[in-house]
Amino acid sequence: MKRSEINREIRKAEELFNRFSFKLPKFASYTLADWKKLDKSKVKEIFDCNLGWDITDFGRGNFAKEGLFLFTIRNGNTKMPEYTKMYAEKIMISRSEQVTLMHCHEAKCEDIINRGGGNLVFELYNRIEGTTQLADTPVVVVKDGEKLTIPAGEKIAIAPGESLTLTPNLFHKFYAEKGGDVMIGEVSFVNDDHTDNVFHEPQLRFPIIEEDEEPYRLLVGDYEKFLF
Ligand SMILES: [Fe+2]
Repeated sequence: MKRSEINREIRKAEELFNRFSFKLPKFASYTLADWKKLDKSKVKEIFDCNLGWDITDFGRGNFAKEGLFLFTIRNGNTKMPEYTKMYAEKIMISRSEQVTLMHCHEAKCEDIINRGGGNLVFELYNRIEGTTQLADTPVVVVKDGEKLTIPAGEKIAIAPGESLTLTPNLFHKFYAEKGGDVMIGEVSFVNDDHTDNVFHEPQLRFPIIEEDEEPYRLLVGDYEKFLF
């Protein structure tokens, strides 16, 4: 993705969060100059636990069709004993018909919550153990405390306020239903995007960035590049 496209998407995300009165922590509004002025030893947790802005086009180069916008608000790091936090929270945006590609997690259990906007549509499959393949068996999933059994791949939509609990090894793909962007919450175990994602098809978790202008905000993947 071009940096100019990322900057534009972050500005659009800020507008959407404002519209929903969803407030982000102070470091969300830091500029590159603000970051450079900081005593980095005092905000080490932000870097170690990958807190902050995040965007992906899954390396496919068509963000509007296949992509997800994210901000990690809190997280731990299971590889660093100084962090005892066992949970994570993200706020995300799926634009109308913008698909988060089929994936599952080895360890992470996550509640994906429709925080407002239109409906969020899921397609779910069990994982064929130890592979990246989808099973044809019925899926058991909990929607706000209610256990549902649905055929593999059947579309299930959640309205604003509703959530699904996605257990480890449950393959999921999701997108905002046509006509309405969705602000999505995620409450989960500690999140490690470098090791815990299993993709059904070849894709990347982080975009390849072409630097055509200054970053408006730093992404989690930018800290190393711009600050250290
Ligand atoms: Fe996921």
